[in-house]
Amino acid sequence: MADGAPRAAGNSLRRALILLGAPGAGKGTQAREVARIYGVPHLSTGDMFREHVAKGTELGRRAKPIMDSGQLVPDEIVLGMVEERVARPDCAEGCVLDGFPRTLAQAERLEEILSLLPLRRAQAVNLALDEEAVVRRIVCRRTCGKCGAIYSTEAKMPRVPGKCDVCGGEIIQRPDDREDVVRQRLAAYHEQTQPLIEFYRRRGQLLEVDGSRDIATVQRDLLGLLERLQ
Ligand code: AP5
Ligand code: MG
Repeated sequence: MADGAPRAAGNSLRRALILLGAPGAGKGTQAREVARIYGVPHLSTGDMFREHVAKGTELGRRAKPIMDSGQLVPDEIVLGMVEERVARPDCAEGCVLDGFPRTLAQAERLEEILSLLPLRRAQAVNLALDEEAVVRRIVCRRTCGKCGAIYSTEAKMPRVPGKCDVCGGEIIQRPDDREDVVRQRLAAYHEQTQPLIEFYRRRGQLLEVDGSRDIATVQRDLLGLLERLQ
């Protein structure tokens, strides 16, 4: 969350908000803003893994070849990392989960974890977008190598070319954003993650947002839905 971020007037999230959607659907873009506005942590498992890779930890060494090939990191590695993070006191008023859960086993374990925490409730939002649009967005994506802020050559460029607006870090392209890896990430999404839409729909915990519109319009719809949940 950005320092000094304004909180949503009088509102608190009081939930684990789960952003579902294909690679490139806009989960990270929206998750950062929702977390900033509600003043809760933004937990991106992809960002956590990228941090481990950058620091050269054991976990990062295990995750890197898997991420670079577009496959999912095994559940036990992901769950170990998330369980510890969600239980920290800064998540007591809510958190935004971006890229987690990604398999049925992760979703089931998240239910168990939340049932033991003050947070308890989960709410999933699916950002729906067709496949050609997600590939185009990923190809256009640029990222801050230092803080992970997300840019796009089409939709959102930094004010100073090559420098992050947030931290001044260098703007790079993610190593898994090559088109062949993107196709593999989409295959993993269809096989392992898409079934979660039905999982949360059956539980009455699913909201749908049309992710094909511009960033500000998607954000307005998403915030409107969240306000009605209060
Ligand atoms: P992760 O980092 O989560 O990648 P992903 O799911 O593939 O999703 P992306 O980050 O690519 O897309 P996004 O939806 O966040 O889109 P964004 O907002 O950036 O995971 C990476 C890897 O880590 C995985 O492949 C896996 O190996 C591993 N991993 C992570 N979590 C795991 C888990 N739980 N289990 C197992 N393995 C795990 O937007 C994309 C672009 O579009 C940007 O350029 C943005 O500026 C632009 N954009 C966004 N919204 C709009 C809009 N409305 N209009 C126009 N442009 C837009
Ligand atoms: Mg992301």
